[in-house]
Amino acid sequence: MTATVTLAGTSPAKFQGSLLAIPLDDTTTVSSTLAELDQSLGGAIKRSIDSKFFRGGKDEVFYLSGADGTAARIALIGMGKVSDRPGSLRRAAAIAARHAAKLGGGDLGFYVGGDDAREVEAATVGSLAGSWEYKDLKTPPPENEQRQPVASATILANETDQVRAALASGEAIGAGQSLARRLAMMPGNLCTPDFLAQTAREIADRHAMKVTVLGRAEMTEEGMGSFLCVAQGTPQDPKLIALEYSGGTPGQKPVTLVGKGLCFDSGGISIKPAPGMEDMKFDMCGAAGVLGAMESIARMRLPINVVGLVGSTTNMPSGTAVNPGDVVKSHLGKYIEVINTDAEGRLVLADVLSYARRFDPAVVVDAATLTGACVIALGHTATGVFSADEALVAEIIAAGKRAGEPGWSMPMWDDYRDLIKSEVADIKNTGGRAAGAITAAMFLKEFTESYPWIHLDVAGTAYAEADMVALPKGPTGVPTGTFIEFVRGRVS
Ligand code: BES
Ligand code: MN
Ligand code: ZN
Repeated sequence: MTATVTLAGTSPAKFQGSLLAIPLDDTTTVSSTLAELDQSLGGAIKRSIDSKFFRGGKDEVFYLSGADGTAARIALIGMGKVSDRPGSLRRAAAIAARHAAKLGGGDLGFYVGGDDAREVEAATVGSLAGSWEYKDLKTPPPENEQRQPVASATILANETDQVRAALASGEAIGAGQSLARRLAMMPGNLCTPDFLAQTAREIADRHAMKVTVLGRAEMTEEGMGSFLCVAQGTPQDPKLIALEYSGGTPGQKPVTLVGKGLCFDSGGISIKPAPGMEDMKFDMCGAAGVLGAMESIARMRLPINVVGLVGSTTNMPSGTAVNPGDVVKSHLGKYIEVINTDAEGRLVLADVLSYARRFDPAVVVDAATLTGACVIALGHTATGVFSADEALVAEIIAAGKRAGEPGWSMPMWDDYRDLIKSEVADIKNTGGRAAGAITAAMFLKEFTESYPWIHLDVAGTAYAEADMVALPKGPTGVPTGTFIEFVRGRVS
């Protein structure tokens, strides 16, 4: 369950919920708008600052007890040195909501002040992100031990039309990100290719989109030998899902979003080691990002055409599975030598990227938990950004920055193509350990004829292996926000 977010022009001194969060940077001055609250608290905010008990450092949280007529508790949330205020507020709001949830839920107030639409949107997104939980598979404790979720978050800011619109778009973004995180968190036996297809149908129904789902039979008909070789070891029906959102003018070329949707990646015959293998349920985070972004884009009614494509299957070893050394014919016609069956994401995406041609895309952005090598290169901080088109690289990095999802450009020079030459076929699916994230991207590039294309490797950023302060361990929602901001940036 996620909280509902509302807006109130109330002064912070008058907010009476269970927790009022006040974000402050490291200059920690008690602004005139906080003077009234500070007075109600007997000067406790100023005292905390003067005594340096609270320094406003990044992620610092300091509790004060409320007073008559104020919220029950006040939390000062540090933002450190602020260069991007909406971004800092998004993070502070997420931290505030996590604290509110830990304290036993209730009503959270988050003070933004003023009437900056971007700040209100960011605070809304942050409070939804911080109050997100996935509890479907936990038996609820006895009633008297139950911790209530955060039922509502109130953003304290001046109620102008623009601020109201910002709250609505923040809710739309939060809904898409929550959907993506939910799909990612669901175990592979529940979030199957079938389930992703069903989820896409529901999004389509809600927002009057066109949805097309191809199964094994239809993909065989299409000649998708690359995608299908990954699916040939699993009894589950693989799905290629296409969602078409038509917010733009008829005939306008669509922005096309593509996501890797491996509901579980065991590695296949080139099987992965057991430790950590359970995390390969997250190998569908690219797909979750596409579905989440389509939900948000439709909720915001963005005036643009967008196509969302998902390639979904599981990668399993079996007597029918594809073997190392096998050669398959892709949808585009190129022959691929399968060296390692664990390099399956690129085999799935090759055919989805080829299929994308029929939508005559203005641009294709794909996102995939594609390589462990990308995690080695950039850690869990930045998404790998791959494109030969420098303007597109700048465009997607700027979009990611607006969303609080940093990306970093990686080289796509022709020299790297040599690493994936095959002795027997047109191309092979791995190039060895060196430059593993780049050779994976070079492989995809071979299947992106006839449109501008950019690839995001989110293997390190789509889920967290440890608590991240603003978000818990588990799915982060990446790349949903980047997709949404990229599409928004294309609205003319
Ligand atoms: N899904 C994995 C990549 C991955 C690894 C995502 C770690 C998140 C965390 C992908 O299908 C894979 O197995 N890639 C191989 C490629 C190799 C065989 C060339 C890898 O990265 O080891
Ligand atoms: Mn794999
Ligand atoms: Zn994979």
